[in-house]
Amino acid sequence: MPVDSHRSFDSGRSADPAPPADSQPAGFEPADFNRRVIEEFRAGRGRVGGPFEGARLLLLTTTGARSGAAHTVPLGYLPDLDGRVLVIASAGGAPADPAWFRNLVANPRVTVESGLFTYEADAVVLDGPERDAAFARAVESDPGWAAYEAKSGRTLPVVVLVPVPGPPAVDGGPGGHLLAVHDVFRRELELIRKEVAASGAALGAQLRVNCLSLCQGLSNHHTGEDTLLFPPLERDNPDLAEVMPVLREEHERIKALMDALGSVLAAPSPDPAALLPEVERLTAELEAHLDREEEALIPVLNALPAEPQG
Ligand SMILES: [Fe+2]
Ligand SMILES: [Fe+2]
Repeated sequence: MPVDSHRSFDSGRSADPAPPADSQPAGFEPADFNRRVIEEFRAGRGRVGGPFEGARLLLLTTTGARSGAAHTVPLGYLPDLDGRVLVIASAGGAPADPAWFRNLVANPRVTVESGLFTYEADAVVLDGPERDAAFARAVESDPGWAAYEAKSGRTLPVVVLVPVPGPPAVDGGPGGHLLAVHDVFRRELELIRKEVAASGAALGAQLRVNCLSLCQGLSNHHTGEDTLLFPPLERDNPDLAEVMPVLREEHERIKALMDALGSVLAAPSPDPAALLPEVERLTAELEAHLDREEEALIPVLNALPAEPQG
């Protein structure tokens, strides 16, 4: 059997795990299952229905350790800070590490598809206390990871995917890029709102990271707009004179809302009941801002001359 044909769907959804190998119906073809999920993921720009509805999924492409061929699998992931994400090599609780993990140990440069962006990343296998802390966070957010680890008899490897600096690939030029970035925030806020609403008395450590990661990304995005995107657009498009101060003011208000959210998160035991209204205020303000910004800027961005090639 070639090394890349090992079943390797790691959903991380304990409520709806992929069926274990010994309980699969006759005719179940893991490669077919993964292929269908990959097709649905790409067609839906990262949205997948059925048991994975609302899950954080990505497509990871590794290079076959022996074959050298590209090997793509859908994986559940957990947000981390600084634009990184974590994946766990559970193989659904199978005793052997999944092929994708063996591949990235041999060749850490991987390609990640988020549904909205495609980017190169370097895979770093965590070890020691760092691995244990990340895995504990995953287990707290979904006990299915602990069940997979117990069943596998392995210490499940935790891998952080570190984006390689440089712009990610996205269709649609600068207008398409802005839309994709905005959709990342829309989707992540929607997930976080549901997670906070479903939280019990205590806020989980992973959910705290999800919130901090979102605020970090949003803050970077707005700094980039204020300093790099807006000034030349304003200079070259007098028609934008009215809307630009409004967009800047909205950035300020969103920053204040993120600061308020950060204050709740900074408490020793953040209270989900106190966090939910902050997340809802941020969602409402941000959605209005993203819509206004797209309406004003996307036609201008789409009319920019294409970057010279080569
Ligand atoms: Fe903005
Ligand atoms: Fe924006």
